[in-house]
Amino acid sequence: MAPREGNPAPPTSRLTGAARVYGVLGHPVTHSLSPAMHNAAFAALGLDAVYVPFPVQPEELPQAVAGLKAAGVCGFNLTVPHKTAILPLLADMLPEARTVGAVNTVRCDEMRLIGANTDGIGFLLSLAQDLDFSPKDASVLMLGAGGAARAIAFALLGAGTRRLWIANRTPGKAQSLAADCLTRFPGAEVRGWPLQPAALAGMEPDLVVQTTTVGMGAPGNRESPLALASLGVRQAVIDIVYHPLETAILAEARSLGLRTANGIGMLLYQGAEAFRFWTEREPPVDTMREALIQALAARP
Ligand code: ATR
Repeated sequence: MAPREGNPAPPTSRLTGAARVYGVLGHPVTHSLSPAMHNAAFAALGLDAVYVPFPVQPEELPQAVAGLKAAGVCGFNLTVPHKTAILPLLADMLPEARTVGAVNTVRCDEMRLIGANTDGIGFLLSLAQDLDFSPKDASVLMLGAGGAARAIAFALLGAGTRRLWIANRTPGKAQSLAADCLTRFPGAEVRGWPLQPAALAGMEPDLVVQTTTVGMGAPGNRESPLALASLGVRQAVIDIVYHPLETAILAEARSLGLRTANGIGMLLYQGAEAFRFWTEREPPVDTMREALIQALAARP
């Protein structure tokens, strides 16, 4: 009988010689929670498959990818700093990845590497599942203009967000991302701002999306990129940080009576959609969420 969703992962010694191999390429990669999440999913569905971390230095990416391909690896994720460097090594890309210009998931189809970006859909699924928030026609303030913000901006606009304000410490990067968004979505209202309370006061967005690295780290980190009180947020705040589980900005949002979600959801759903892309099976999201939470709790 196949193990039920929620059962603990079987030992990897149950793998056979026909096991399918997946992994994540990053630098650093030791803190990745993806091995725990995907191995739990393989176990829950009784698949003869394994997911392993591959620490790959930036300059070694082409050799590493050629090696994985030659060795019959079936697919892999990419994390910092490889999400754009992988592009010239691919045979093809799905439309979302092409739009964003970054790839977090690769499937090896008979020696052809196909790139996908599941970060955007992962974010949208988290908005729906964790916040019950519809981005259609919404006004959104996004803090940050880095790689994660880029995938989120295109996903929001693709889902019908009408007004997107991008606020960043380096305002030129917010303006440049806003310009890229407008090229693809000319009907939307998109603008870059400095990440300063005086510039953003009274904006009254429906949703705030926090993508900067400011609140990351130990649970004692009380740094917030922006005080929410003067913004007049209408509904909800989502932070893509998941360590700590409640950042200072989420704690403030909760105290203001707003709906809140942390970054576990985006991490989970981007992983679930990568799993679907590789296996063409329904991802066991409850098992994957549980594995993520356990792996996070076990972190020093
Ligand atoms: P990611 O891929 O996770 O988005 P990134 O591309 O390095 O990471 O982007 C990090 C984001 O956090 C950027 O928006 C960065 O702002 P700058 O463009 O001004 O660098 C933001 N960030 C990092 N440290 C910050 C700080 N101390 N205060 C405000 N924003 C900060």
